[in-house]
Amino acid sequence: MPSLHFLQCLPFLILVILHFIFLARAQLPGTWEILVENAGIASMHTAVTRFNTVVLLDRTNIGPSRKLLRKGHCRSDRNDAVLKHDCYAHSVLLDLATNQIRPLMILTDTWCSSGQFLPNGTLLQTGGDLDGFNKIRKFDPCEPNGSCDWVELDDVALIDGRWYATNQILPDGSVIIVGGRAANTVEYFPPRKNGAVSIPFLAEAEDNQMDNLYPYVHLLPNGHLFIFANDRAVMYDYDSNKVMMKYPPLDGGPRNYPSAGSSAMLALEGDYSTAVIVVCGGAKYGAFIERSTDTPAHGSCGRIVATGPDRVWEMEDMAFGRIMGDMVMLPTGDVLVINGAQAGTQGFELASAPCLYPLLYRPDQPGGLRFMTLTPGTVPRMYHSTANLLPDGRVLVAGSNPHVFYKFEVEFPTELRVEAFSPEYLSPDRANLRPVIEGIPETVRYGEAFDVVVSVPLPVVGIVEVNLGSAPFATHSFSQGQRLVKLAVTPTAPAGDGRYKISCTAPPSGRVAPPGYYMAFAVNQGVPSVARWIHLVS
Ligand SMILES: *[C@@H]1O[C@H](CO)[C@@H](O)[C@H](O)[C@H]1NC(C)=O
Ligand SMILES: *[C@@H]1O[C@H](CO)[C@@H](O)[C@H](O)[C@H]1NC(C)=O
Repeated sequence: MPSLHFLQCLPFLILVILHFIFLARAQLPGTWEILVENAGIASMHTAVTRFNTVVLLDRTNIGPSRKLLRKGHCRSDRNDAVLKHDCYAHSVLLDLATNQIRPLMILTDTWCSSGQFLPNGTLLQTGGDLDGFNKIRKFDPCEPNGSCDWVELDDVALIDGRWYATNQILPDGSVIIVGGRAANTVEYFPPRKNGAVSIPFLAEAEDNQMDNLYPYVHLLPNGHLFIFANDRAVMYDYDSNKVMMKYPPLDGGPRNYPSAGSSAMLALEGDYSTAVIVVCGGAKYGAFIERSTDTPAHGSCGRIVATGPDRVWEMEDMAFGRIMGDMVMLPTGDVLVINGAQAGTQGFELASAPCLYPLLYRPDQPGGLRFMTLTPGTVPRMYHSTANLLPDGRVLVAGSNPHVFYKFEVEFPTELRVEAFSPEYLSPDRANLRPVIEGIPETVRYGEAFDVVVSVPLPVVGIVEVNLGSAPFATHSFSQGQRLVKLAVTPTAPAGDGRYKISCTAPPSGRVAPPGYYMAFAVNQGVPSVARWIHLVS
């Protein structure tokens, strides 16, 4: 009588299933919140400034956004294909203290451009499409109540027009601009005498669906660049324009645009001689050419010690296939993988099956156990979406517009909502461990010893870390210039009144941490403080 037995058991089975569904939901770590219901624009490029504001940036020739420029500030452009007289904002500034949005005025097209913060905290922004192709712009951030805005530089331009390029700040504070569509060269800001220098590796990595665009560029602590394009990587000495080392190809197909993987360099620590690079996810080769929206993405990650003698990729699978995921370095050294889809490829309307589950990658766990699945979001974040670490430890999620223009009544609509994801370290039951930075210098020099004073509700057991997080330029599922540097610290010493003193040493050189503003986090047993911005200078 199996069927009777089954029927008798049914209510119980349903209870068990419901229980598991509830538990699965309730127990996954992390929480989501909507910060802004309508940012006015869909952010394609996002960067956090040292004034705790966030620059959101789209492209210009996209027609009406949902935010007007200030009264009397319109942009007239005879060549704009959509709006010759455009009174809409295509960039806005979000104030993290109030969640208010202020329109910014960008004059030339920033579609698929690149960016990086300079040592003085100015955001440099390069290239784009059409009138933006050779353009260099800057944004000098100001107090949230200020009126700073984009400035187009008229005295300097890119030598090679660039879209889909990657920028990386260098140890001397200049910026290298790497690759781009039909631009297999590098050049610099400020410009160097030798102009745009051809780099054959980028040309070799180009295939018939491109796949060498938005290369993953990481500044290694030995001063060379790790450049990953398509399925391969080199160590590149930009001063001599020489490839110092070729890494073996990474299995699993192409990873860069349009094949939509992501990459991060793990935290630099100890004697800073070792750098480990991780590359995760991607589309199946051919999905872009075939315009296939339902080809399953793959979930493989490769990890390599870029500075080591054994050049091997250690492989590990994520729980989900994923394209267009963003890899965000958290203050702890763990990496959040967030946003994206499970099928298709990068490009307009070329993906499906949003991947709503963020993953936490824990580098210190043994291989095979490093990924943990976190609480899913509810808003699909497809093509042209971004993720950035905030100074309070949350992760800002913005954008998603897989369409050529703004479209709302469709599948995967243009997304104007800005969300924040709070990793588990911000959960209330860990609040007693959360340090507050009471004292920290505003400026430190390379190699300088300095003290950080923190207070913590519960007595500190063990060592409180002090970790510096850069503010990267996030676009197209890669954070340009992202790095986390763990400082050398002495054992935490009680300083009375629940306070503790941590003696730290600033990074030894610009190779380990290029000059500029960093978010300094005190991290106690995996729980980060709110960061204080610290200016690292030579
Ligand atoms: C920062 O440096 C850039 C490039 O030299 C310059 O254009 C900008 O005005 C500087 N910003 C500030 C605030 O001094
Ligand atoms: C803006 O804020 C700063 C810092 O809080 C303050 O010093 C300044 O007076 C304010 N400026 C205006 C115009 O309100």
